Amino acid sequence: MASMFTAVQAADDMEARIDELLSHMTLEEKVRLCYAQSKFTSPGVPRLGVPEVYTSDGPHGVRMEINWNDWNHAGWTNDSCTAFPALTCLAATWQPELARLYGRSVGEEARYRKKTVLLGPGVNLYRTPLNGRNFEYMGEDPLLASSMCVPYIQGLQSNGVACCVKHYALNEQETWRGHVDVRVSDRALYELYLRPFHAAVTEGGAWSLMGSYNQYLDQHASHNARLLNDILKGEWQWDGAVISDWGATHNTQEAIFNGLDLEMGSYTDGLSSEAPINTYDDYYLGRAYLEKCKRGEVPESIINDKARRMLRLIMRTEMSDRKGYGSINSLEHVAAARAIAQEGIVLLKNNGILPLAPAAGKRILVVGENATRSLCAGGGSSELKPRDEVSPLRGIKERFGDCEIEYAQGYASGRAMYGNTDEMQQVTLDSLRNEAVEKARRADVVIYVGGLNKNHQQDCEGGDRLGYNLSYGQDRLISELAKANPNIVVVMASGNAYAMPWLSEVPALVQSWYLGSEAGHAIADVLSGDVNPSGKLPFTMAKQLTDYPAHKMGSVGYPGVTPELLPQPYGGEAGKPMNSKALLDAAVKGWKGISFSTAQCDGKKKNETEVYGEDILLGYRWMDYFKTQVQFPFGYGMSYTTFEYGKPAIDGRTVTVTVKNTGKVAGKEVVQFYVGDDKASVLRPVKELKHFEKIALAPGEEKTVTYTVKDDDLKFFDENKHEWVAEPGTFTIYVGASSRDIKGQLKLNLK
Ligand code: BGC
Repeated sequence: MASMFTAVQAADDMEARIDELLSHMTLEEKVRLCYAQSKFTSPGVPRLGVPEVYTSDGPHGVRMEINWNDWNHAGWTNDSCTAFPALTCLAATWQPELARLYGRSVGEEARYRKKTVLLGPGVNLYRTPLNGRNFEYMGEDPLLASSMCVPYIQGLQSNGVACCVKHYALNEQETWRGHVDVRVSDRALYELYLRPFHAAVTEGGAWSLMGSYNQYLDQHASHNARLLNDILKGEWQWDGAVISDWGATHNTQEAIFNGLDLEMGSYTDGLSSEAPINTYDDYYLGRAYLEKCKRGEVPESIINDKARRMLRLIMRTEMSDRKGYGSINSLEHVAAARAIAQEGIVLLKNNGILPLAPAAGKRILVVGENATRSLCAGGGSSELKPRDEVSPLRGIKERFGDCEIEYAQGYASGRAMYGNTDEMQQVTLDSLRNEAVEKARRADVVIYVGGLNKNHQQDCEGGDRLGYNLSYGQDRLISELAKANPNIVVVMASGNAYAMPWLSEVPALVQSWYLGSEAGHAIADVLSGDVNPSGKLPFTMAKQLTDYPAHKMGSVGYPGVTPELLPQPYGGEAGKPMNSKALLDAAVKGWKGISFSTAQCDGKKKNETEVYGEDILLGYRWMDYFKTQVQFPFGYGMSYTTFEYGKPAIDGRTVTVTVKNTGKVAGKEVVQFYVGDDKASVLRPVKELKHFEKIALAPGEEKTVTYTVKDDDLKFFDENKHEWVAEPGTFTIYVGASSRDIKGQLKLNLK
């Protein structure tokens, strides 16, 4: 109680100090708080001693310094960092305490580098495996993403460094991200896409949030009346600052009136090709805003509200007496990065070849470009300059030091370029493949390290992947290697699912994500069995691209079409949310009778529209409903030990289940609880994740896991009433080791 009183008092003090500051500030000073003074900073109030705001990407570490006025690297030598695993890996740990450790550690690094705001975490949902930025997000399920982002944010902000949750909202693709207009129902919006943001601001207490590039209801998200005024600041009563994505502001009137607080990265600074003018004062919230204020066209309340939110952000961070000095590249941070990587790696297939225990002198052949190249460089704004990045080849050499270790590149991707691809010639790929296959014949075991990388149109910002298969001839290479040597272990770096035409030919597959500074160590830890893998997939890996509804729908579902090409009922009414029932009716009928144009638009129309036609049936919700076979389901991941689930029991609202380690080594299991509504007035998913817990078990050990069903776990969003509703009747509770490995079911009756 005492501490709560202090918190309330501290908040009052802060508001009182802000009132005091505002009373001394000129109109010019208030307006000046709301737009950038460089690529990554914005001013404070120098006359009154209010410090500037320094932002940095985010979210996997503190990015290297960028020039004051352009996007180039500043070339400092003292800005290297610890690279933490990508957020997909964090999600795959299913371990909220690791998210807290992650946030706290990256926050200490940000503090050390004197940053006010770290631009992350990203909580957009996984809708298509082509999205170039899925690796920066936390999978397809809103509960999982919420459960992981909240402790990340709390850990980060405990350093007096603000998070900036991004990209709000509906930025689920990179193709045409600057303008694509997303049409979605309120049900899908509230049940899925907004949920992690809601958790971030209400439970996580996020101090800032980033408006995204795309449009919603014909309005850019960074100054979107519904998303920002009505929902974020209205319904959710959030008191933080909305920061535009860099270059996501397009209009002064909307920026003023629709809830944008800080404009960053606009193209009026003369440093991009689109820039006609060359000063920050030409930003939409610059001189144009000031002039409108002077003409009396902006109410005091709005001017003060924006300034107050910016002052609050500065008070909570730069002016906080809680902030320390931080630390960077500490042993603790490196250890945290390794621990997160170890727990996030997912074992997808193992016929017994893993863990590897080669006798001294055996020949290990490591193949694949990802065994040696940096996977922290590239990828867009999340790029990092780690002080040290342990490559998989190095990790394997260190761990299996008494073996003979050889390397063959196998394939080549060309140079990592942002916004361009520099593909290799077929002859180069042929000779690299032939060399690797030759060497594979002579090896005792082959470890293949491939997947995607951080090049443009791979896992990279600013463009999506062009197809579901891996690039650079990897499918053929893996098949030929497996024929040459059946003792092959495949390790894949990616933040996305991909086609696996070779899966039946290889005895083991390890999903390693992007693991940051300690990548090679963590991979060797798992391959050797020093660490028993315990990660589980945060998204569905489908067999083929068109199994994902976004792609089944054709261009209307992804990446969008010009509105004239929208078939009914998708034509809908521009500027209005879609109707969930109409969308689901059409989806359930397999979209029969609707002709989806597959005509590609050129992305230059500025009004291309995309319909989230799968509605609430995202990811496993879709696969469950249509009983679609998947390659690997949501929540899936193997271990080197085995777990036995007891029969779950229910007492009132409390579900218990015992889980026993029946194998020979210690291991961790993620016990998952899903809830389905047996009968409802609206279409509901077969089941939805509502709770999970990761437990550690020694061989022979047994533990009981408990889940108490909350009212909220039974509700859907009623878009007519605009509220969450639970309908009386029976619900089924599913206890499982993945969304497709259900160990027991129970019934619960709601009166
Ligand atoms: C990205 C943001 C990033 C910002 C600053 C934008 O292009 O979408 O995620 O934080 O740039 O680098």
